Amino acid sequence: FSTVRFYHPKVIEHYQNPRNVGTMDKNLPNVGTGLVGAPACGDVMRLQIKVNDNTGVIEDVKFKTFGCGSAIASSSYATELVKGMTLDEASKVKNTTIAKELSLPPVKLHCSMLAEDAIKSAIKDYRTKRHNRKPTLGPDA
Ligand code: FES
Ligand code: FES
Repeated sequence: FSTVRFYHPKVIEHYQNPRNVGTMDKNLPNVGTGLVGAPACGDVMRLQIKVNDNTGVIEDVKFKTFGCGSAIASSSYATELVKGMTLDEASKVKNTTIAKELSLPPVKLHCSMLAEDAIKSAIKDYRTKRHNRKPTLGPDA
């Protein structure tokens, strides 16, 4: 059956048991949402992070991907990878790390690129929201 022929076992494993599938409320102040698409194939990936405002640590991650097996596996693995990282660490995650873990063939490299872009986009969204937040009552309010 063709899946077996084209996909590495690690891809199939993530595809069949995807980690951290789901949705978080994107309006929560400490949730960053990344939504990216691959123009070449039309696949779409949404990745969300919940960040501890004080430590900058990503405490929870959820994803939803409409795409090929490699894109689903890449996002599933990406959620495992960045959970527990600081924003700075997560922003350095490279698609090659994901592609290597899943043994993606060259034609599927852009699927892991989608995951890298989704992480970066979620971080950017969180940082923008945080920057725009109304200052709360502080010592000199
Ligand atoms: Fe069809 Fe990615 S090209 S799902
Ligand atoms: Fe396009 Fe996998 S084929 S993301």
